[in-house]
Amino acid sequence: MSSVVITGIGELVTGDGTGPDRLGIRSQAAVAVEDDMIAWIGAAAEAPACDTVIDVGGRAVIPGFVDSHSHLVFAGDRGAEFAARMTGQPYDGGGIGVTVTATRAASDDELRRLLAARIAELRTLGTTTIEIKSGYGLTVADEVRSLQIARQFSNETTFLGAHVVPPEYAARREAYVDIVTGPMLEAAAPYARWIDVFCEPHSPHAFDADEARHILNAGAAAGLGLRVHGNQLGAGPGVQLAVELGAASVDHCTYLNDADVDVLAAAADTTVATLLPGVEFCTRSPYPDAARLLDAGVSLALATDCNPGTCYSSSMPWVVSLAVREMGLSPAQALLAATAGSAQSLRRTDIGRLVIGNRADLTVLDAPSYLHLAYRPGVPIACALDVAITAQRASARPPAF
Ligand code: NIG
Ligand code: FE
Repeated sequence: MSSVVITGIGELVTGDGTGPDRLGIRSQAAVAVEDDMIAWIGAAAEAPACDTVIDVGGRAVIPGFVDSHSHLVFAGDRGAEFAARMTGQPYDGGGIGVTVTATRAASDDELRRLLAARIAELRTLGTTTIEIKSGYGLTVADEVRSLQIARQFSNETTFLGAHVVPPEYAARREAYVDIVTGPMLEAAAPYARWIDVFCEPHSPHAFDADEARHILNAGAAAGLGLRVHGNQLGAGPGVQLAVELGAASVDHCTYLNDADVDVLAAAADTTVATLLPGVEFCTRSPYPDAARLLDAGVSLALATDCNPGTCYSSSMPWVVSLAVREMGLSPAQALLAATAGSAQSLRRTDIGRLVIGNRADLTVLDAPSYLHLAYRPGVPIACALDVAITAQRASARPPAF
């Protein structure tokens, strides 16, 4: 059994729900880790003897970010689509087909190499848990291999065969839904924990409420947990459907009416509203009012939605800064939504909070306080602790504050 003590933590944000803003902040703290689990938390001066001592030099330490929504298994590039959007082209999901073509054409090795690079990138930005969706294969074989490759990097994998109706089925939607709920689901389920649907009547490529309900019910019958892309492009049925079916999360929630907020608040123990402000940024869409949702009692999460179309960024610190600047959250509320909130959306209690018995997923900030996540937007101050330790050995970097 190996033991490590992390000491010299200027500000430790445990997120344990105690103290001001429920952040559970301790100063001059230490954390002892045994076999990747948190074994002890307390004052640095009282830290237990351990095999290895890591002194973080007064930096802040927070729970590793939980990015509960990403589409990282893809090939190809849609930079030109992004540029067109910045000059007024609206997003309707049609570009997904471009990525489907490129992803189908890529070899397994190429997809694995691209995914590994993206995972390495997000870890250097402080993310320690990543949910990964399929959805750029849209054939039985291509969906299965996307999930198999994703599974090599995360247990939080999501079957998204119902991302869009692929072009070859555009005139036969029902036939595609039959495949998704039949052979594709059967082949994909062993490699997925979740099923998701792009429920969006405002997109001609996505699925309406009846199709989405049918697909989600089939996924539940196959033993998968439910997630929904809902209310992204306009008011719609996604939120209500997610709550009706007891989904763990409904994601985007860009356009919400009062009834949507009411059902989300009533379902706060079951269904989390996952906000993706990077998407609003990259599609020039209005930001939802996150403060209103919190006030109403809705359970909130923040995630990147990293994908080649609506948000090609894996940066959770950037998402936190957008949520603070554009959605009305305080820095504390945004940090909790990006850690404990996202963990709740994955129905996980072993991550998202630094408490004894939880996974020792620590993120170190090259800053004296978590406030710097929003205060220093765009500056790479956050890093998963194990990645930071490796990098630090190479460069012996002093603190940057
Ligand atoms: O969450 N809206 C559906 N899916 C992704 C975008 C995928 C793409 O455009 O490639 C999203 O925004
Ligand atoms: Fe998405």
